[in-house]
Amino acid sequence: MDLHTFLQTRRSVRRFKPDPIADSALERILTSATHAPSAHNRQPWRFIVVTTSVVKQRLADKMSAAFESALIADGLATEEIEKQITRSRTRILAAPVIIVLCLDPSELNQHPDQKRKKAEYIMAVQSVAAATNQLLLAAHAEGLGGVWVCSPLFAPEAVRDALELNESWEPQGMCFVGYAENTPQPRERKELKDIVVMVVE
Ligand SMILES: Cc1cc2nc3c(=O)[nH]c(=O)nc-3n(C[C@H](O)[C@H](O)[C@H](O)COP(=O)(O)O)c2cc1C
Repeated sequence: MDLHTFLQTRRSVRRFKPDPIADSALERILTSATHAPSAHNRQPWRFIVVTTSVVKQRLADKMSAAFESALIADGLATEEIEKQITRSRTRILAAPVIIVLCLDPSELNQHPDQKRKKAEYIMAVQSVAAATNQLLLAAHAEGLGGVWVCSPLFAPEAVRDALELNESWEPQGMCFVGYAENTPQPRERKELKDIVVMVVE
């Protein structure tokens, strides 16, 4: 497979076989993720790898509680809340490996200027996102599937609690990784003509 075909055949995989992932494959995936570019080479990414049912259960419990409060506040009907909570719990419990991506802001460049400070923080978020994408591509290279989910961003305290995270680590997202139960169809992409501007003069 040429590299472009490889890049274009990554899919978000949401259903997994229960087969475990070898530690050696996980280590290669995490190592490749750390070769992503990062602003000032600060490497603000942190990875928390969850493989055991007991921790998945704790994560599902804490995140569901936070999710339920948010859905109640949104005014959703009880049945709909139960449906969404069950779906979210099932996804966490069924994922063979969960890798939570955090941002550690402790080594970012400090600036008194608020605009510059904000830009440094955005660069750190972008760097963690670059590592997350690299992680998904590395999983694809191992013949594994994965999906990036944003729920930790909405329930950072629940994630911090469940995983006993360092105070300064900010949960940004998580990836569910495993052997794909099936290969999803490609999602539609916008055409280049609609999203690219070639500036010639
Ligand atoms: C920042 C980000 C957040 C995402 N959050 C979720 C999510 O919460 N749940 C989910 O099922 N997929 C999530 N996705 C996956 C996208 O839905 C998926 O990448 C998109 O539909 C394109 O499909 P593809 O990855 O198979 O090409 C997220 C992707 C990104 C980049």
